[in-house]
Amino acid sequence: MWKKIFGKKKSPNIDLDQDLLATIDKETLPRHVAIIMDGNGRWANKKGMLRSAGHVAGVKALKRTLKAAIYLNLEALTVYAFSTENWKRPTEEVDFLMKLFSDYLEKELDEMDRDNVHIDFIGRVDGFSAHLQKMMEDAKQRTADNTGVRFTVAVNYGGQDEMVRTVQSLARDVAAGKLAPEDIDAGLIDSSLDTGDLPPVDLVIRTSGDMRLSNFLIWQTAYAEFWFTDTNWPDFSKDDFAEALIDFSKRDRRFGGLSKRNGDK
Ligand code: FPP
Repeated sequence: MWKKIFGKKKSPNIDLDQDLLATIDKETLPRHVAIIMDGNGRWANKKGMLRSAGHVAGVKALKRTLKAAIYLNLEALTVYAFSTENWKRPTEEVDFLMKLFSDYLEKELDEMDRDNVHIDFIGRVDGFSAHLQKMMEDAKQRTADNTGVRFTVAVNYGGQDEMVRTVQSLARDVAAGKLAPEDIDAGLIDSSLDTGDLPPVDLVIRTSGDMRLSNFLIWQTAYAEFWFTDTNWPDFSKDDFAEALIDFSKRDRRFGGLSKRNGDK
């Protein structure tokens, strides 16, 4: 699928080819893709492996997907790595995921920096160990001036939790006389969320068959398109990504208005 659509040389595993990139109609690409990387456990179970092996394979799928996003010069990619509910998992699995996050940052940061990726984290980052928080802060600072893909990792993240924190912070500003209640509009709420200056989500991809948002970016996905696949996250390929993007390019997005495509007047 990738080759059929983006041409033979358009593999995200090779250096960016600006000439080929220029042939892709940027108008049809989403600005902001958000991914619910689900099914690591099921992938491992099917193979008779431990869940941790599924998460390791999930990291590889994430690396592939980020490379594809870089190759396509997407503006923003946000991934759901750990939810506020994931603490309910067995301690060994949580500990394993924490180690995986820190290993990922340690091993991948140089390459992400070389790829001009701007890294950020959303969620209650302060719920993590001081070591992991420092690694996240260092990754953010080191890539702060990068102008490529805005790669945001949602960790200890919940959309409702984000809304609660945002409302509390705005309420504090009202109480302190810095804001009038009437100043609070959609734009201010939007920019006060963890996602700050990121564009609204255009496309949500969820792997592994379930068709729900699971408390991910509940405000930011108000007008997003959704693309679901039965493929478990570790098997998510650049071809699957291409298929999602092509499907997105065919959607008629009306944002509550009339269809431009059908010539409604
Ligand atoms: C969902 O699969 C996946 C997670 C809760 C963790 C996502 C983590 C990764 C892809 C690993 C790496 C991420 C980073 C940023 C290094 P699941 O365990 O819920 O699968 P299941 O529903 O089949 O049990």
